[in-house]
Amino acid sequence: MNGTQNHEPLSDGCGIERDHRLAAIGTLFDLWFGYVPEEPAENTRRDIDKIVAGSHAAPSDRVLDLGCGTGRHLRELALRGWSRLKGVDVSAVAIQKARQMSHGCSVCGGGEGAITFNCEPFEDTLKKVGEPYQMILCMDMTLSLYPCDEIRRILALAAHALLPGGSLVAEVWNWKTVLTSMEGIHRVFDIPAGKLHYRVQTDRANRRLLFSHQFMTPRNSIAFPPQWQYVYDETIWRSLAESAELPLERCEAGSSDISTWLWMRRNSP
Ligand SMILES: C[S@@+](CC[C@H](N)C(=O)[O-])C[C@H]1O[C@@H](n2cnc3c(N)ncnc32)[C@H](O)[C@@H]1O
Repeated sequence: MNGTQNHEPLSDGCGIERDHRLAAIGTLFDLWFGYVPEEPAENTRRDIDKIVAGSHAAPSDRVLDLGCGTGRHLRELALRGWSRLKGVDVSAVAIQKARQMSHGCSVCGGGEGAITFNCEPFEDTLKKVGEPYQMILCMDMTLSLYPCDEIRRILALAAHALLPGGSLVAEVWNWKTVLTSMEGIHRVFDIPAGKLHYRVQTDRANRRLLFSHQFMTPRNSIAFPPQWQYVYDETIWRSLAESAELPLERCEAGSSDISTWLWMRRNSP
């Protein structure tokens, strides 16, 4: 893909093959996690403070992180003594880093094997759940990568993977702010290997964001096919959650003004 430009956007929310979308996500995040430094630890601690305070889960409960990236949220839980943690991501680079970074983590908290990481589509993990989870996380706009029909499927699978009364906590784009605050953004980040150009265009009429990434290193210029991300409002999230039998309990401000947290909870029998 060296130096390629002017791609057609990947995924318009309906026609694209699921395998194609997953492959594109895996490749993009392989590069992202290969080049871009981790979120500041302080942000992750703040997220976990909020998750621990707002959920009904306890350190002995099973937790699954969908699209865990390098496992930062699970590591923070392990540091606080949580011991039955699983992370899954389609990016092999993210999972390799997650395993490396979590290597010494057991001594700090949850004990040997506190976290396991799998590199696979999270839909596959959700389909083969044996013992259900008390809590499922899906952080940092991971669900916003998907059109409605895919989200409905993912939430339905997640509902079956949760214990009755179990929670799904998802961080998504803030529908009140993001379509205006991200208009026409072009940022350049210094990354250890060079520069990452990051552009966002808004399609307000269809409530979508078009992301373009270009990784520029001294030897390579890797431009990604632009990728749609989706901005759903509370009414849509509520309806998606309800159709998956995972009612939306509450929405609250996210860690930044461009994100919102959704708290869904599987009905108790
Ligand atoms: C924006 S990153 C968030 C990473 C992590 N949750 C965090 O907060 O740092 C989204 C992650 O979800 C992963 N992902 C997206 N769709 C996936 C799927 N269907 N199965 C597995 N991983 C997926 C991507 O590879 C990427 O690592």
